[in-house]
Amino acid sequence: MIVRLQVNGARREADVWPGTSLLTLLRDHLGLYGSKNACEQGECGSCSVWLDGELVCSCLVLGAQAGGREVLTVEGLNLERQAGAVQAAFVEAGAVQCGFCTPGFVVAVTDLLSNDPAPSEASIREALSGNLCRCTGYAKILDAVNLAAGRLRDSPA
Ligand code: FES
Ligand code: FES
Repeated sequence: MIVRLQVNGARREADVWPGTSLLTLLRDHLGLYGSKNACEQGECGSCSVWLDGELVCSCLVLGAQAGGREVLTVEGLNLERQAGAVQAAFVEAGAVQCGFCTPGFVVAVTDLLSNDPAPSEASIREALSGNLCRCTGYAKILDAVNLAAGRLRDSPA
């Protein structure tokens, strides 16, 4: 079946099997490899994207469900002010080790700071509870979120 959708501001289409996930559509049909495939069960958050502005695990969404809708992936994040600050903070805080989880975290943190510029530690932990990292122990990821949040508050758009 042909799925037509908007991805990172551009019209795209893919010819997919009806059971194809949005994650597979993005990676294998559109060549957008930033969204990672780790669990394919909605457990790890490495495949996080926005679908019509809502944060979703793209492994849990059928590609067909995205037809006629807007998808924003980590590759499209240079359009977002928060994303640049989040990416820089992850690097500076040492929150990137193997990096496999990082795109999903950057998407989730960008979503969090878009909605809550001054999140409490509990809010950060809650917002990131769907993202798994096997390397960092999370402390440096929390540091990165606080670093990015502080910088964004200090230099409002
Ligand atoms: S690959 Fe989608 S949540 Fe893990
Ligand atoms: S940095 Fe390796 S899984 Fe998070």
